[in-house]
Amino acid sequence: MRFFGRFFQNRKPQLTPDLAAEIRRSFEQAAADEEHFPSSIDPRILHVRAVIEGVGPIGAGARVLDAGCGKGRFAVHVANAYPGALVVALDLACAMLRCAPPHLGRVAGSMLELPFPDSSFDAAYATESLEHAVDIERAVGELCRVLKPGGRLVIIDKNARHWGRLETPPWEKWFREEELLRLLRRHCRSAACRPISYWEDVAPDGLFLCWIAVK
Ligand SMILES: C[S@@+](CC[C@H](N)C(=O)[O-])C[C@H]1O[C@@H](n2cnc3c(N)ncnc32)[C@H](O)[C@@H]1O
Repeated sequence: MRFFGRFFQNRKPQLTPDLAAEIRRSFEQAAADEEHFPSSIDPRILHVRAVIEGVGPIGAGARVLDAGCGKGRFAVHVANAYPGALVVALDLACAMLRCAPPHLGRVAGSMLELPFPDSSFDAAYATESLEHAVDIERAVGELCRVLKPGGRLVIIDKNARHWGRLETPPWEKWFREEELLRLLRRHCRSAACRPISYWEDVAPDGLFLCWIAVK
């Protein structure tokens, strides 16, 4: 099981129009599943704190992109932490975006073709969304393209070494630490990665990794 899991994880699916449509449809439907796709998150959770600290410091008027925002549960806390900034919450699925609070700049779109000019964000982050992008090189390229020089990018996603621990849709990809570091370093002057847990008093078990890059 583990062998086959690893084998299939290493195969790179092609993002055909059919697969892109299937992914979008799946998340349009998933928006109704509040248990697995919740609209809020406890701000004490370290993933939230890592995003807030990782994208900062941010001044008034700064623009922050949440790529694959889902229902905006992270974006709400980022907007609260940086009240002078505009948090743009982008997602593939309109049904997800409809659950996000309207004071966020909500945009329907794909991180594979971000509808923003080059260097138009001071910071960006993606939490458990890059794993659904399929064409990972392109998505990382897009996230870095829209960042200003000196802008910061935070990615929280699952660790390929733990592949098989959770059920996943067939297109989902988990990442080795070095794999994303290599991609990020193509576009960014620095990139680092660390394991991250949910709670301060619980050591990371290795399932989640947090990458932070500076363009
Ligand atoms: C597991 S949810 C995570 C949502 C949110 N980041 C969070 O942590 O609550 C993954 C989200 O990524 C979105 N997504 C998947 N592929 C995407 C793409 N290519 N571009 C933008 N959003 C995408 C899905 O619609 C879904 O809302």
